[in-house]
Amino acid sequence: MALMNRQVVLRRRPDGLVVPDDTELVTVPSPEPADGEALVRITYVGVDAAARTWLDDQPGYLPPVQLGEVVRAAGIGEIVSSRCDAYAVGDVVTMLAGFTDYTIVRDDLFCTPVTGMDVVDHPAVLSVYGPTGATAYFGMHDVGRPEAGQTVVVSAAAGATGSIAGQIARIAGARVVGIAGGPDKCRAVVEDFGFDACIDYREGDLDAALKAHCPRGVDVYFDNVGGEILDAVLGRLAANARVVLCGVISSYLTGEHPGPANYVNLLARTASMQGFNALNEWHRFDEAFAALRQWDADGLLVHRETVYEGLESCVDALNGIFTGANLGKMMVKISEPT
Ligand SMILES: NC(=O)c1ccc[n+]([C@@H]2O[C@H](COP(=O)([O-])OP(=O)(O)OC[C@H]3O[C@@H](n4cnc5c(N)ncnc54)[C@H](OP(=O)(O)O)[C@@H]3O)[C@@H](O)[C@H]2O)c1
Repeated sequence: MALMNRQVVLRRRPDGLVVPDDTELVTVPSPEPADGEALVRITYVGVDAAARTWLDDQPGYLPPVQLGEVVRAAGIGEIVSSRCDAYAVGDVVTMLAGFTDYTIVRDDLFCTPVTGMDVVDHPAVLSVYGPTGATAYFGMHDVGRPEAGQTVVVSAAAGATGSIAGQIARIAGARVVGIAGGPDKCRAVVEDFGFDACIDYREGDLDAALKAHCPRGVDVYFDNVGGEILDAVLGRLAANARVVLCGVISSYLTGEHPGPANYVNLLARTASMQGFNALNEWHRFDEAFAALRQWDADGLLVHRETVYEGLESCVDALNGIFTGANLGKMMVKISEPT
């Protein structure tokens, strides 16, 4: 009997959060792998802010998802049939797939075997030993470069990237202040992820809180958010500060990027602001995973996952990262790992 494949496809480009008529859950025959390909049964899909930007008709580092195509997302799964030398049945791989039960992979940039990494915890692979952990590592290690005793601020600190990035700075000996939405998240940032302090940006005066928590200024700011929070932190930079431009989640739903007035402080503080794209460091992912695994083994790294159940909940999960529904990595369980 033919294997059937459920997929969430794009029907209409969303305006803001994704609403029911923007996508459709369809059932189609599963694709057959051709020579040089393999078929993967997805176990978990990661839900990234970028997945929402790919639904807009805007050029980016990947082409927009076209109407009728599967909503793109990173995932992990198991090879169930193979017609290539790179993968055997049972191998666990991470890949850029989508909200779908099955997908085809090739031996290329977007598919990485993880079986050899000795990692059996699929959610942990998505939250740490995949693009999210690599993003935190390259952004903080290469661009932020925190030193012992320096003050590091991380926005979206209770999220997947921010929670790991802040811990990397703390391991380097920095004093780390998170910014997150709500008292529960701020408590988790300090008590679970081990930050020194956390500011609730939804409560009170952000400028005053930054001044209180960063009396000598901010040496490194790891920015996941942009907008008003970026502007406020730019106003508190220390001399020679580094601003890591990781993401701009506050503007992904509107597509509007209000300019930060306090950018003039980059001049006054001889500071720098640099963007980066973790996918450009694909050839160095092993370096990132080795460091993360060592810290994990040493008990220095905490990761959390927020897991939704079933393909039907993928869109809710995607919307959830814009409403702050996640602690740690947002993901959806699609099927049971063997
Ligand atoms: N440069 C790269 O290579 C790269 C790679 C991957 C991801 N990224 C970027 O990294 C950032 C974090 O992504 P992630 O996947 O790890 O997501 P995440 O941090 O796990 O989830 C997003 C969090 O952002 C916060 N947020 C949402 N809307 C906000 C707003 N308007 N203002 C302030 N905070 C808001 C929410 O937390 P609160 O409840 O605390 O508000 C939410 O939980 C994104 O900007 C993403 O684009 C960059």
